[in-house]
Amino acid sequence: MSFKYFSGSGQLLTCEQTSLKQVSNMTASFPPPEALIHALAERSAGRTGGPPPLQVKIPAAAYTDEDRFHKEHQRLIMGKPVIVGHESQIPDPGDTLVYDWLGLPIITIRNTQGEIGSFLNVCRHRGMRLLEEEGQSCQRSLVCPYHQWTYGLDGALRNIPLQESFGDINPAEFGLKPVPTEVRAGMIWVLAQPGGTMDLESHLAGLDAEVERFGLGQSQFHRQSVKRVPANWKLIQDAFLDGYHVVRLHKNTVGPFFPDSMAESDWIGDHIRNAVARNEITEAVDQPQEGLDLRHHATFSYTVFPNSVLVMHPEYTSIMSFFPQSVDETLFVHSMMTPRAPKNEEERAHFERSFELIDRGVFEAEDIRVCIGAQKGLRSGANDGLLFGGFESWAVNFHRRVEEYLQD
Ligand code: FES
Ligand SMILES: [Fe+2]
Repeated sequence: MSFKYFSGSGQLLTCEQTSLKQVSNMTASFPPPEALIHALAERSAGRTGGPPPLQVKIPAAAYTDEDRFHKEHQRLIMGKPVIVGHESQIPDPGDTLVYDWLGLPIITIRNTQGEIGSFLNVCRHRGMRLLEEEGQSCQRSLVCPYHQWTYGLDGALRNIPLQESFGDINPAEFGLKPVPTEVRAGMIWVLAQPGGTMDLESHLAGLDAEVERFGLGQSQFHRQSVKRVPANWKLIQDAFLDGYHVVRLHKNTVGPFFPDSMAESDWIGDHIRNAVARNEITEAVDQPQEGLDLRHHATFSYTVFPNSVLVMHPEYTSIMSFFPQSVDETLFVHSMMTPRAPKNEEERAHFERSFELIDRGVFEAEDIRVCIGAQKGLRSGANDGLLFGGFESWAVNFHRRVEEYLQD
């Protein structure tokens, strides 16, 4: 199934679009993030205007159609490298993450050499789940609860109790099934294709070096929340690609820090770089590039294709990943990264208050709330599609990119 996107007047929209072919030939040549701050400063000084008017409808079926959902899951969520965590969550050998978010049972673990790898969380004897609980833990080895086959942190089968009962068995053939894993910019990327190969370099298209400008590699995992959200995963992506709602939906929380609907965006490969002007943008007018502060004059967010968003708040970073479980249910995983471990109790309490404000007060009570509200209305027939205007054009671009990957 494929969709066409129509403007309000029924015309097929023909605005900026980079084809997949172009993307695959792209090298990591895009302007530095300061260029977006400059563009915002010019707008705030009244020297340039905002985006042109637009009316585009995304068909309601894009958020409700089961067949389309399965294709998205197969081709994008399981077909692309996705972020499952940050290496500072598992700093020591044996530190482990267990998660079923991708529809596969996966263990991500740091081995005795300090390298991070992933395996299917499935015993090679009679298939028992090795680590039963999802979440973080520390393991000396992986021991199956059923008959105690024991695996090393590298996934190799180390011990079979009463091995002689299996006669001529080669333990090397019964190591845990590996899942492609790589760490870039501190983030752990996994491709949910056991035994497959992951081309992270071309997927990132330079995004890793870009986000390193914000110190993400050296940042420290502080806390994570996992929420089950009854909404299509793309409704959540839409909410993070729309500067139009910020001073409205968030008027009692973070809205007052931002001028109305002032954002600049561009592509980094398949990913969308988004700079949202903060009130301090006026200080950036006619400032040389060296005088610009990437977290002060604007808030950058990166829509990491297909299912993550990084938000570079002034004092910390949010890494969010949206793992679709069904067409209308998504696991929302939010990790707060701080520039360092808290120096003392006072700083810890400060980080905690920040987490509560952004995770519960803003994301859950505001952004997620409206996604749930919109999903409830989608099957009602009130709207044959959802309407996007000029300040929401990058959400439309995101849908187009998804659509291109769904083409046969
Ligand atoms: S199923 Fe794991 S040891 Fe038997
Ligand atoms: Fe928002």
